[in-house]
Amino acid sequence: MNIRSVIRGVGAYLPERVLSNDELSKTVDTSDEWIRQRTGIARRHIAAANETTTDLACSAALRALEHAGISVDEIDLVILATTTPDNTFPATATRVQARLGITAGPAFDIQAVCTGFIYALTQADNMIRLGQAKCALVIGAEIYSRILDWEDRGTCVLFGDGAGAVVLKAENGNGAEAGRGVLSTTLGADGRYYDSLYVDGGPATTGTAGFVRMQGKEVFKHAVERMSSLVAGLLEDQGLTTDDLNWLVPHQANVRIINKVGEKLNVPPEKVIISVEEHANTSAATIPLAMNHAVERQLFKPGDLLGLTAMGGGFTWGAALIRW
Ligand code: UT7
Repeated sequence: MNIRSVIRGVGAYLPERVLSNDELSKTVDTSDEWIRQRTGIARRHIAAANETTTDLACSAALRALEHAGISVDEIDLVILATTTPDNTFPATATRVQARLGITAGPAFDIQAVCTGFIYALTQADNMIRLGQAKCALVIGAEIYSRILDWEDRGTCVLFGDGAGAVVLKAENGNGAEAGRGVLSTTLGADGRYYDSLYVDGGPATTGTAGFVRMQGKEVFKHAVERMSSLVAGLLEDQGLTTDDLNWLVPHQANVRIINKVGEKLNVPPEKVIISVEEHANTSAATIPLAMNHAVERQLFKPGDLLGLTAMGGGFTWGAALIRW
């Protein structure tokens, strides 16, 4: 039997508090004009003091389950992509599992920074196709506001808090389901770039959580190259071209990166999902947030081909082709 993982539901959650560019410019030397022009970001959401990554993840997961029409009793795998776990251990995914009342199967976190959601999706897809899970919750959730140096204008304007989730279900690939689901995935990493985008703290170094440090221009250059070549490679492997792609769903870090990736791939702007304006870079959460943005607008139609692509700290990178 040819088992495929099909996305049954998508959900997202953004904290209530909105921090506008203008408000930020009162505390750090920046402006709404600079941020919009250089990044396309208009605002970001900031978690309340008592909100945790678990809270954000659970809110997004519950919405994805509701959208899927699937009860928690069916879930037998929870993978949470996050860079900002509630505690150093155990995995925040276990807390999410307990909060949602899930008792079946494994629950673990994945740390691949902005590529985290693609890493998590790939892992869930592999487990489903191997028969190790039947219905997975794949979540990206982050509270970057707690690891930002709010005096560093080169980073603090770029990130935000948020969560997105999908429900991935095993289907036998027959009948109405034929051809649907995750077609292929690819992952990579090059640890020689560890210091180009990192957090200057951690349990085994400073004993503190630390702050994001980034060589913006270097990350920018690599992101454009990687995110475009990954999708081109996956399409080629499947005997497809960019003309077959209905939607490009890139990691939402900077609208200039997204536009350049679209240009390199020859994908017209109307086929590129962009939601970064609304929530800034939420790291592992941006791809499911962008998917949710598209689903709310009913953009994806059955049979559409989606290309997901991301690049982040590590450097790590990954992409996926999905038949909706
Ligand atoms: O998921 C991966 C995570 N990271 C990213 O995707 C980020 C990738 N990098 C980027 O998006 C861009 O490199 C940035 C948005 C971070 C910066 O854009 P840039 O066009 O590369 O600007 P830059 O770093 O060359 O800075 C240009 C100028 C500098 O001033 P001078 O030296 O020209 O006088 C900066 O000091 O802009 C200044 N600048 C700012 N000005 C106002 C840097 N940050 C700000 C700011 N507000 N927030």
